[in-house]
Amino acid sequence: MAISDLHVAYPENREIVEKLRPESDSDWLLVPGDVGEFVADVEWALGLLKERFATVVWAPGNHELWTPKDDPVKLRGEARYRHLVEICRGLGVLTPEDPYAVWEGPGGPVTIAPLFVLYDYTFRPPNTTKEEAMAWAHETGVVCTDEFLLHPDPYPSRDAWCRARLRETRARLDARDPAIPTVLVNHFPLVRQPTDILRYPQFAQWCGTVETADWHLKYNAATVVYGHLHIPRTTWYDGVRFQEVSLGYPRERRMYGRDDSPPLREVFPSEDAT
Ligand SMILES: [Fe+2]
Ligand SMILES: [Fe+2]
Repeated sequence: MAISDLHVAYPENREIVEKLRPESDSDWLLVPGDVGEFVADVEWALGLLKERFATVVWAPGNHELWTPKDDPVKLRGEARYRHLVEICRGLGVLTPEDPYAVWEGPGGPVTIAPLFVLYDYTFRPPNTTKEEAMAWAHETGVVCTDEFLLHPDPYPSRDAWCRARLRETRARLDARDPAIPTVLVNHFPLVRQPTDILRYPQFAQWCGTVETADWHLKYNAATVVYGHLHIPRTTWYDGVRFQEVSLGYPRERRMYGRDDSPPLREVFPSEDAT
């Protein structure tokens, strides 16, 4: 099962999280990011889910990497990420820093690979520079809050942090057992096409990196699970199923009439929602 973008700072979302239950004692839960912004909120939600699901797998979203001014945890960038990884280890929740677990249940074996690769602004319009795309975003007032709250320390920029993460993640994926297919779990879409339907195309530059465009093929993905866009749906690229599993904000669910959609999605071996 999977669900992302829980955004538990919203009381309505917190209530939904409190009601999440597995369908069986053997269900695993994939949580690809945007659980919340405050470290205590992330710990609360993942701890609750770990009590209920046999295995919980987390990958960070951009929101966990913010340093909100009201959070008593003042850590920034890489140090904040490592702190969250340590909290997950205390809870028994798997992260991109742990050995990849292998699902041996129905449809298995598959290697469950939580990824943290961030974004590098390369989902900007073709034939534009990063500076031009950023200027367009500022002129039109569509600037991701990451620019103010997601600090890349100790890297000089978010794109430099992304490049480091790409290197580390490729090494981890290359070292896995190539005979076993993967379930790739990443906050951001690994391919660019899901961003084509964004209401504000300016936002795409904060949504991924072209460097992962062939990972679903290269790493033999049985399915790819992601969030961030708050557009829950299933699409196929090169014959591989990509599933956006976000809960999103209460106002979005009201706007798009999503209240009745099942909050948890079965993502492997089959799916029960599109
Ligand atoms: Fe989100
Ligand atoms: Fe996000």
